[in-house]
Amino acid sequence: MKAALKPSTAVLNSVADPRALITELEIQHRTAQLSERICADITGGDLVVIAILKGAFMFLADLSRHLEVPVEFDFMAVSSYGDSTKTSGVVRILKDLDTDINGRDVLLVEDIVDSGLTLSYLLRNLEARDPASLELCALLNKKEKRKISLPVKYEGFQVPDIFLVGYGLDYGQNYRNLPYVASLKK
Ligand code: IMP
Ligand code: MG
Repeated sequence: MKAALKPSTAVLNSVADPRALITELEIQHRTAQLSERICADITGGDLVVIAILKGAFMFLADLSRHLEVPVEFDFMAVSSYGDSTKTSGVVRILKDLDTDINGRDVLLVEDIVDSGLTLSYLLRNLEARDPASLELCALLNKKEKRKISLPVKYEGFQVPDIFLVGYGLDYGQNYRNLPYVASLKK
Protein backbone atom coordinates (compact mmCIF):
# COMPACT_ATOMS: atom_id res chain seq x y z
CA MET A 1 0.00 0.00 0.00
CA LYS A 2 1.37 3.42 -0.93
CA ALA A 3 1.76 6.21 1.67
CA ALA A 4 -1.00 8.85 1.77
CA LEU A 5 -0.12 11.83 -0.38
CA LYS A 6 0.31 15.18 1.35
CA PRO A 7 -1.41 18.26 -0.09
CA SER A 8 0.77 21.03 -1.48
CA THR A 9 1.25 24.38 0.27
CA ALA A 10 -0.71 26.07 -2.51
CA VAL A 11 -3.69 23.91 -1.65
CA LEU A 12 -3.37 24.55 2.08
CA ASN A 13 -3.40 28.30 1.49
CA SER A 14 -6.90 28.21 0.06
CA VAL A 15 -8.50 25.90 2.61
CA ALA A 16 -11.78 26.68 4.38
CA ASP A 17 -13.24 28.96 1.76
CA PRO A 18 -16.72 29.73 3.16
CA ARG A 19 -18.24 29.66 -0.33
CA ALA A 20 -17.13 26.09 -0.89
CA LEU A 21 -19.39 23.11 -0.36
CA ILE A 22 -16.37 20.94 -1.05
CA THR A 23 -13.05 22.69 -0.52
CA GLU A 24 -10.00 22.53 -2.72
CA LEU A 25 -8.17 20.61 -0.02
CA GLU A 26 -10.94 18.01 0.29
CA ILE A 27 -10.96 17.57 -3.47
CA GLN A 28 -7.17 17.13 -3.61
CA HIS A 29 -7.21 14.50 -0.86
CA ARG A 30 -10.06 12.56 -2.39
CA THR A 31 -8.63 12.73 -5.89
CA ALA A 32 -5.31 11.30 -4.70
CA GLN A 33 -7.16 8.47 -2.91
CA LEU A 34 -9.18 7.65 -6.00
CA SER A 35 -6.04 7.58 -8.19
CA GLU A 36 -4.38 5.18 -5.78
CA ARG A 37 -7.38 2.85 -5.86
CA ILE A 38 -7.49 2.98 -9.65
CA CYS A 39 -3.74 2.15 -9.86
CA ALA A 40 -4.19 -0.74 -7.42
CA ASP A 41 -7.06 -2.16 -9.48
CA ILE A 42 -5.36 -1.91 -12.87
CA THR A 43 -3.50 -5.06 -13.74
CA GLY A 44 -3.64 -5.15 -17.53
CA GLY A 45 -1.20 -2.28 -18.21
CA ASP A 46 -3.28 -0.93 -21.07
CA LEU A 47 -5.42 1.79 -19.51
CA VAL A 48 -7.27 4.42 -21.51
CA VAL A 49 -8.81 7.21 -19.46
CA ILE A 50 -11.63 9.03 -21.21
CA ALA A 51 -12.83 12.34 -19.83
CA ILE A 52 -16.15 13.87 -20.77
CA LEU A 53 -15.74 17.47 -21.85
CA LYS A 54 -16.07 20.04 -20.74
CA GLY A 55 -16.97 19.38 -17.11
CA ALA A 56 -14.39 16.70 -16.30
CA PHE A 57 -11.31 18.63 -17.44
CA MET A 58 -10.17 19.80 -14.00
CA PHE A 59 -10.93 16.53 -12.24
CA LEU A 60 -9.03 14.63 -14.94
CA ALA A 61 -6.02 16.93 -14.59
CA ASP A 62 -5.77 16.31 -10.84
CA LEU A 63 -6.66 12.62 -10.99
CA SER A 64 -4.08 11.94 -13.70
CA ARG A 65 -1.22 13.50 -11.72
CA HIS A 66 -1.36 10.58 -9.28
CA LEU A 67 -1.86 7.76 -11.78
CA GLU A 68 1.38 5.86 -11.55
CA VAL A 69 0.58 3.36 -14.31
CA PRO A 70 0.99 3.58 -18.08
CA VAL A 71 -2.05 5.46 -19.30
CA GLU A 72 -3.39 7.03 -22.46
CA PHE A 73 -5.92 9.87 -22.39
CA ASP A 74 -8.75 10.67 -24.72
CA PHE A 75 -11.78 12.93 -24.66
CA MET A 76 -15.39 12.92 -25.68
CA ALA A 77 -17.64 15.92 -25.83
CA VAL A 78 -21.37 15.49 -25.56
CA SER A 79 -24.30 17.79 -25.37
CA SER A 80 -27.64 16.89 -23.97
CA TYR A 81 -30.71 18.52 -25.33
CA GLY A 82 -32.49 20.46 -22.61
CA ASP A 83 -32.05 23.62 -20.60
CA SER A 84 -28.83 24.54 -18.78
CA THR A 85 -29.75 22.92 -15.46
CA LYS A 86 -31.47 19.68 -16.56
CA THR A 87 -30.51 16.74 -18.76
CA SER A 88 -33.07 15.54 -21.27
CA GLY A 89 -31.50 12.11 -21.75
CA VAL A 90 -31.03 12.66 -25.46
CA VAL A 91 -27.29 12.88 -25.97
CA ARG A 92 -25.43 14.10 -29.03
CA ILE A 93 -21.73 13.28 -29.49
CA LEU A 94 -19.93 16.51 -30.41
CA LYS A 95 -16.44 15.00 -30.30
CA ASP A 96 -15.74 11.29 -30.51
CA LEU A 97 -12.64 9.37 -29.40
CA ASP A 98 -9.43 9.44 -31.43
CA THR A 99 -8.42 6.11 -29.85
CA ASP A 100 -9.57 2.58 -30.63
CA ILE A 101 -10.60 1.13 -27.25
CA ASN A 102 -11.18 -2.42 -28.49
CA GLY A 103 -9.63 -4.90 -26.02
CA ARG A 104 -8.36 -2.18 -23.68
CA ASP A 105 -9.14 -1.21 -20.07
CA VAL A 106 -11.25 1.93 -20.15
CA LEU A 107 -11.99 4.34 -17.32
CA LEU A 108 -14.68 6.90 -18.06
CA VAL A 109 -14.25 10.08 -16.03
CA GLU A 110 -17.18 12.41 -15.43
CA ASP A 111 -17.64 15.50 -13.28
CA ILE A 112 -21.08 14.69 -11.87
CA VAL A 113 -23.71 11.99 -12.22
CA ASP A 114 -27.18 13.40 -11.81
CA SER A 115 -30.03 11.49 -13.50
CA GLY A 116 -27.41 9.11 -14.93
CA LEU A 117 -28.90 9.42 -18.42
CA THR A 118 -25.79 10.91 -20.03
CA LEU A 119 -23.46 8.24 -18.66
CA SER A 120 -25.88 5.44 -19.37
CA TYR A 121 -25.97 6.50 -23.02
CA LEU A 122 -22.18 6.76 -23.15
CA LEU A 123 -21.67 3.39 -21.48
CA ARG A 124 -23.84 1.69 -24.08
CA ASN A 125 -22.01 3.53 -26.83
CA LEU A 126 -18.56 2.56 -25.52
CA GLU A 127 -19.52 -1.04 -24.66
CA ALA A 128 -20.37 -1.51 -28.33
CA ARG A 129 -16.67 -0.89 -29.12
CA ASP A 130 -15.68 -4.00 -27.11
CA PRO A 131 -13.25 -2.72 -24.48
CA ALA A 132 -11.64 -5.36 -22.19
CA SER A 133 -13.19 -3.51 -19.23
CA LEU A 134 -15.18 -0.33 -18.73
CA GLU A 135 -15.45 1.41 -15.34
CA LEU A 136 -16.87 4.74 -14.19
CA CYS A 137 -15.23 7.41 -12.10
CA ALA A 138 -17.22 10.49 -11.09
CA LEU A 139 -16.15 13.29 -8.79
CA LEU A 140 -19.70 13.98 -7.64
CA ASN A 141 -22.68 11.69 -7.28
CA LYS A 142 -26.21 13.09 -6.87
CA LYS A 143 -27.76 9.77 -5.94
CA GLU A 144 -31.22 11.17 -5.13
CA LYS A 145 -31.70 12.26 -8.72
CA ARG A 146 -30.81 8.95 -10.34
CA LYS A 147 -33.31 7.81 -12.97
CA ILE A 148 -31.30 4.82 -14.09
CA SER A 149 -29.03 2.51 -12.12
CA LEU A 150 -25.32 3.05 -12.82
CA PRO A 151 -22.25 1.27 -11.44
CA VAL A 152 -20.03 4.20 -10.35
CA LYS A 153 -16.96 2.26 -9.20
CA TYR A 154 -14.87 5.29 -8.21
CA GLU A 155 -16.90 8.06 -6.55
CA GLY A 156 -15.46 11.27 -5.14
CA PHE A 157 -18.33 12.68 -3.07
CA GLN A 158 -22.04 12.11 -2.67
CA VAL A 159 -23.81 15.45 -2.97
CA PRO A 160 -27.37 16.61 -2.26
CA ASP A 161 -29.83 17.61 -4.94
CA ILE A 162 -28.68 21.19 -5.38
CA PHE A 163 -27.18 22.83 -8.43
CA LEU A 164 -23.39 22.92 -8.14
CA VAL A 165 -20.71 24.91 -9.89
CA GLY A 166 -16.93 25.05 -9.87
CA TYR A 167 -14.07 22.62 -10.42
CA GLY A 168 -15.23 22.06 -14.00
CA LEU A 169 -18.98 22.38 -13.38
CA ASP A 170 -20.69 25.29 -15.05
CA TYR A 171 -23.82 27.34 -15.09
CA GLY A 172 -24.19 28.82 -18.58
CA GLN A 173 -20.46 28.09 -19.20
CA ASN A 174 -19.40 30.17 -16.18
CA TYR A 175 -17.68 29.19 -12.91
CA ARG A 176 -15.78 26.17 -14.30
CA ASN A 177 -12.49 27.67 -13.13
CA LEU A 178 -13.31 27.78 -9.40
CA PRO A 179 -10.89 25.48 -7.56
CA TYR A 180 -13.69 24.27 -5.27
CA VAL A 181 -17.30 23.08 -5.61
CA ALA A 182 -20.01 25.53 -4.54
CA SER A 183 -23.78 25.65 -4.68
CA LEU A 184 -25.27 28.23 -6.99
CA LYS A 185 -27.63 30.69 -5.36
CA LYS A 186 -30.03 31.82 -8.02
P1 IMP B 1 -27.19 13.43 -16.03
O1 IMP B 1 -27.30 12.93 -17.43
O2 IMP B 1 -28.53 13.92 -15.50
O3 IMP B 1 -26.54 12.45 -15.09
O4 IMP B 1 -26.33 14.76 -16.06
C1 IMP B 1 -25.01 14.74 -16.23
C2 IMP B 1 -24.50 16.07 -16.70
O5 IMP B 1 -25.36 17.17 -16.35
C3 IMP B 1 -23.18 16.36 -16.00
O6 IMP B 1 -22.11 15.83 -16.70
C4 IMP B 1 -23.17 17.87 -15.97
O7 IMP B 1 -22.66 18.36 -17.20
C5 IMP B 1 -24.62 18.26 -15.86
N1 IMP B 1 -24.99 18.50 -14.46
C6 IMP B 1 -25.74 17.73 -13.65
N2 IMP B 1 -25.87 18.27 -12.43
C7 IMP B 1 -25.15 19.41 -12.45
C8 IMP B 1 -24.89 20.43 -11.45
O8 IMP B 1 -25.31 20.40 -10.28
N3 IMP B 1 -24.09 21.45 -11.87
C9 IMP B 1 -23.57 21.53 -13.14
N4 IMP B 1 -23.80 20.61 -14.08
C10 IMP B 1 -24.59 19.56 -13.74
MG1 MG C 1 -20.73 16.76 -17.82
